[in-house]
Amino acid sequence: MKVLLATQKPFAAKAVSGIREIVEAAGHELVLFEKYADQSELVAAVSDAEALIIRSDKVTAEVIAAAPKLKIVVRAGAGYDNVDLAAASAAGVVVMNTPGQNSNAVAELAIAMMIFMCRNQFTPVTGTEIEGRTIGIQAFGNVGRLVGAKAKALGLKVKAIDPFLTPEKIAEGGAEPVSELKELYQSCDFVSVHIPATPQTVGSIGYELITSMPKGAVLVNTARKEVIDEAGLEKALEDRPDLKYVTDVMPDNYATLQEKFGLRVFATPKKMGAQTAEANVNAGLAAARQIVAFFATGERKFQVNK
Ligand code: 3PG
Repeated sequence: MKVLLATQKPFAAKAVSGIREIVEAAGHELVLFEKYADQSELVAAVSDAEALIIRSDKVTAEVIAAAPKLKIVVRAGAGYDNVDLAAASAAGVVVMNTPGQNSNAVAELAIAMMIFMCRNQFTPVTGTEIEGRTIGIQAFGNVGRLVGAKAKALGLKVKAIDPFLTPEKIAEGGAEPVSELKELYQSCDFVSVHIPATPQTVGSIGYELITSMPKGAVLVNTARKEVIDEAGLEKALEDRPDLKYVTDVMPDNYATLQEKFGLRVFATPKKMGAQTAEANVNAGLAAARQIVAFFATGERKFQVNK
């Protein structure tokens, strides 16, 4: 089988060689397609692919239609909002993710971003410390739980909300459960966002929630830019000069935010949460193993388009 590793943002070399080893040991062929500049190149590259490993690469209906031999797409990572699941299902293509494999990298970045903003982006402006303050974790999944544990170790009080977990489960994970989102925002000096982009969550964090945060609060988004109502964020930062926003997913209005709010906003130039050697190896190798198992036995444990 031909496995195409299509990554606009390439994996570390160690991850690529590990993926190759797993794929070739199972008798399949690995073809590398990295750092492509345009979506049309991806559409052209998939023509004879039977399996696809991707990151945030966009597997649209056009990509699926251009890949008549495609049987499986594995998103090496957690969020799969970049894959047209309906188009994949209609074409009989199985879609999987690799949950948990890059979570630690993202959680470490969320903590780092929080400190970075408290220290005014490492400029000589006097900052604040995080110890003794309260962090709210919005969605207590793989990343959220790790952020909570790390924050606790740094002396923060941890609260969390998750529509899919009981208060008991959240407490077992080491956080104080909160039942209303507004309550989380009102009572936390930091809110770290870990929700996926879905029709229910897109644009769901806006002016009202952000301005309900206490004085000097920082909103940290290592999830998806789409979950923020960007106009609402801009207005909130305007009306509340004490608030800060830091993100690993650049907002569309970032230039305006930078111009208006300077050190109170920061976005990484490219999504870097999962960009560690460890996360690349964990997620990349898991993806390769899932493809090999799928072709060998039909294993579909991590299928997301059931
Ligand atoms: C994920 O959903 O796993 C993260 O957003 C990582 O995305 P990336 O593989 O494009 O860095």
